[in-house]
Amino acid sequence: MGSAPKVVVTRRLPGVSLARLAEKAVLAAEPPEVPMGREELLSRVPGAAGILCTLADRIDSPLMEAAGPSLKVVSNYAVGVNNIDLAEAARRGIRVCNTPDVLTQATADLAFSLMLAASRKLSDAERALRAGRFTGWDPWGFLGMPVYGKTLGIVGMGKIGSAVAVRAAGFGMRILYHNRRALPAEREKVLRAEYRGFDALLTESDFVVLCVPLTPETRGLVDRERLRRMKRSAVLVNVSRGEVVDEGALAAALSQGWIFAAGLDVYEREPLVHPDLLAAPKAVLLPHIGSATLETRERMGRLAMENLLAVLSGTEPPCAVN
Ligand code: DGY
Repeated sequence: MGSAPKVVVTRRLPGVSLARLAEKAVLAAEPPEVPMGREELLSRVPGAAGILCTLADRIDSPLMEAAGPSLKVVSNYAVGVNNIDLAEAARRGIRVCNTPDVLTQATADLAFSLMLAASRKLSDAERALRAGRFTGWDPWGFLGMPVYGKTLGIVGMGKIGSAVAVRAAGFGMRILYHNRRALPAEREKVLRAEYRGFDALLTESDFVVLCVPLTPETRGLVDRERLRRMKRSAVLVNVSRGEVVDEGALAAALSQGWIFAAGLDVYEREPLVHPDLLAAPKAVLLPHIGSATLETRERMGRLAMENLLAVLSGTEPPCAVN
């Protein structure tokens, strides 16, 4: 019998049981409470057969090289896999796995929260109250945009986008969507959604919600020119990846009134946030919490573990990307 495979877990994570992993693998070292620095990660991976990592870990060619030919699986504790060089993993025969489905509803809840919060100026209003500026009911105070009955444009009608559409039906919204390809007519009927080209969706929508994965095609998708096409009354929400939006252009759009407001959960250079966005009262800014419920995070952890252990035991993982 061969020796147990070495596994690196890059951070202590909800739902990831070190005891369970230790039944089948040897843990390189106790995972830290905080994100592991690049140097530390590079020093832990040599000889590893599996890496269970988060979206903050860059799993690129030098990292795979440092791990060496023993590396069989990279199991990401996230649905997005833009932190992993997929082409390089494929070239080296490394399986890449992720955690879809289990976070769909939590992320759609957050997208809807951002639609409501940004359109009704919730953060701004709460800040004012806490600062002692609630001096009585004000007929002119914090006038927002209505959500009910408005037009929602979903960019990326995958699982999360569809879950946002289901919520929007309860708000009497007209639903437009854009994907690389239109959905089958049956699915459009279920979701009550109409396909639009990207630019047409931007000009027609009162709310634009970004649910696309980050790929070379979606990087910088919402730039100055695209923001200019949106309604002045529109609200932009991003729960996908920050790099899909040009943050500088968005800050300009908010300060110059090209759009009404924005709700963001993700940023171009996390954990940094563009200073002009930090200063923009019309932006509701959250620290990447789309999947942040304990129930969801525990399910992500269990799935990430299952993916990893399946590959190490030579069986098909439940959620492989390649
Ligand atoms: C993901 O899974 O990709 C989210 O951004 C974090 O849960």
